[in-house]
Amino acid sequence: MEHDETLVVHSIGQLVTLDAARGDILGMVHNATLVARGGIITDILTEEEEVDWNTLPHDVTEIDANGAAVVPGFVDCHTHLAWLGNRREEYVQRANGVSYEDIAASGGGIRSTIEQTKRGSPEKIAHAMAGRLATMLASGTTTAEVKSGYGGSLAGEEKQLQAVKLIAEDSDRLQPECIATFLPLHGAVPDAQERAQWIREVVTDGLARMREYATFVDVFCEEGAYSPEECMQVLGKAQEHGYHCKIHAEQRSHSGGSMVAAYCHATSADHLDHATDRDADALRAADVVGVLLPGASLILDGPPPPGRMLMEHGVELALATDCNPGTCYAESMPLMMSLAVAYAGLTPEAALRAATLGGAHALRLQDRGMIAPGMRADLLVLETPSWIDLSYHMGASLVQLIVQNGRIIPRGLTHVI
Ligand code: NIG
Ligand code: FE
Repeated sequence: MEHDETLVVHSIGQLVTLDAARGDILGMVHNATLVARGGIITDILTEEEEVDWNTLPHDVTEIDANGAAVVPGFVDCHTHLAWLGNRREEYVQRANGVSYEDIAASGGGIRSTIEQTKRGSPEKIAHAMAGRLATMLASGTTTAEVKSGYGGSLAGEEKQLQAVKLIAEDSDRLQPECIATFLPLHGAVPDAQERAQWIREVVTDGLARMREYATFVDVFCEEGAYSPEECMQVLGKAQEHGYHCKIHAEQRSHSGGSMVAAYCHATSADHLDHATDRDADALRAADVVGVLLPGASLILDGPPPPGRMLMEHGVELALATDCNPGTCYAESMPLMMSLAVAYAGLTPEAALRAATLGGAHALRLQDRGMIAPGMRADLLVLETPSWIDLSYHMGASLVQLIVQNGRIIPRGLTHVI
């Protein structure tokens, strides 16, 4: 939303800009003051520099950070928020040793959420999303991607995407800004002929129809889901319609999704738990962002995401929640940062960068994820003087104040269940 308000945040102990132009990964400015006008950062001043109050209007909103750390708002670039119902029973089944694949093969898993979601109205789906989005915002997520994929038909997929649109158009609502992704190849369709029929429908009708709602197309490349060839068929056509591509790749097995991502110059390849060195080289060469989803890896007892290996191969990384009712029911980006450090081999610096700037790049958003003049004023004032606590203090809620688009989000956000 456009506005012309002015915001000054002063006494910032550690301003983590992530601006590489400042020389290192963190782009740290100590004892900083930040000025934003109309939702855009205009100035970052260091200790010695004074704010020139004469150039600012009278009605400035002033925040005293009182020595706290400030970081960019989180960009959660991979979620499946638009679902109805729940999969509590499967969660318990898995805890008792039944595998995700066995549950899916017997009609549960993604198919179960499709059954629960496909008859819901866009309003009902939007209502379910709103609670999750409020929780995300309260933990510091200022931008979130939302996928379809639980529609079960083009009409169902459209309803999910309409729900995202309803949410995005509601300017009174305090929530992360939502970016929609059309995910037509998701739930397992065991019959090859049925799969071919669905792909034909997606290619001849779905892609054109969903273009109004979504900027990205995603596909689930996996044994028991869709093959690399099927994924490539849809992504190739999606590009002709002007979409950017994403792919669920190498999540449960080494299924070939990374090579599809590289071949299609996808914006991101997500999961990558079973990715190899060769995959990493291909992703790097094609400038594909690698999205780590450590919550899903942990819940499904998969191998840890190979964050360190991907980084060593020069792949840019993003970190996301994957928030969904099956493999990771979690909204918190700080929790994902803790997991990424604890078992995906990321340093705290890399985890913070992946949760902000990396996420922005995985959504092709050039105006956020970094604190620098000209960028959107999406900021988090922490409860603590050290940004390291974001991952170090596991499960804590360390966001004291959220600024989105240059405006303070009032405290007391409630989660509607
Ligand atoms: O990212 N891998 C496919 N999609 C989701 C799972 C969704 C579900 O189980 O409902 C994921 O893990
Ligand atoms: Fe996913």
